[in-house]
Amino acid sequence: MNKNIVLIGFMGTGKSEVGKELAEKLGYEFIDTDEIIEKKEMLKIPEIFDKYGESYFRKIESEIIKEVSKKDRVVISTGGGAVIKHENRENLRRNSVMVCLTASPEVIHERTRKYNSRPLLKIGDPLMRIKELLNERQEYYSQADITLDTSDKSTADIVNIIHERVGTGRPADKHEGKGRLVVNNNG
Ligand code: S3P
Repeated sequence: MNKNIVLIGFMGTGKSEVGKELAEKLGYEFIDTDEIIEKKEMLKIPEIFDKYGESYFRKIESEIIKEVSKKDRVVISTGGGAVIKHENRENLRRNSVMVCLTASPEVIHERTRKYNSRPLLKIGDPLMRIKELLNERQEYYSQADITLDTSDKSTADIVNIIHERVGTGRPADKHEGKGRLVVNNNG
């Protein structure tokens, strides 16, 4: 298996944690597009949104995705909105298995509400916003090769399932694994 692994999915589905551990297991380089954006801009994501707005963030995100998609033997964790743009989806698809991590709106809300790192959820009713954005983005998330519900799984479970499945391309069983995934600031 020499293909890259690209992790897509909504905020709070564990893309960063899973990506890091999966890369280690595969001996691949790990790339987190949000981290690269923050380093490049020398600002945290909420500051980029505040200072320059979402469209500026999306422009930088696309540039970074274009660059990192040229690499081989990498695990790429993307921001939750990376799949909105057609050009990003095309770039990310290059030589990769796309894995979409999902979780229920309630689980996403629970995982993300303790952090201030997601500007799109800094509003009065974040659960409602999560549901709206999930609806808007569903058609893009559903284009992944493998979809894996992380609601009741640990990071290690998810990493193991992806590791087993990337070779075969078999769709993941929603009910595998046990325990809970803990999402951090960037998850
Ligand atoms: C975003 C998700 C965030 C980050 C930015 C926008 C989105 O990444 O890229 O706040 O549009 O869903 P995570 O999915 O890693 O939280």
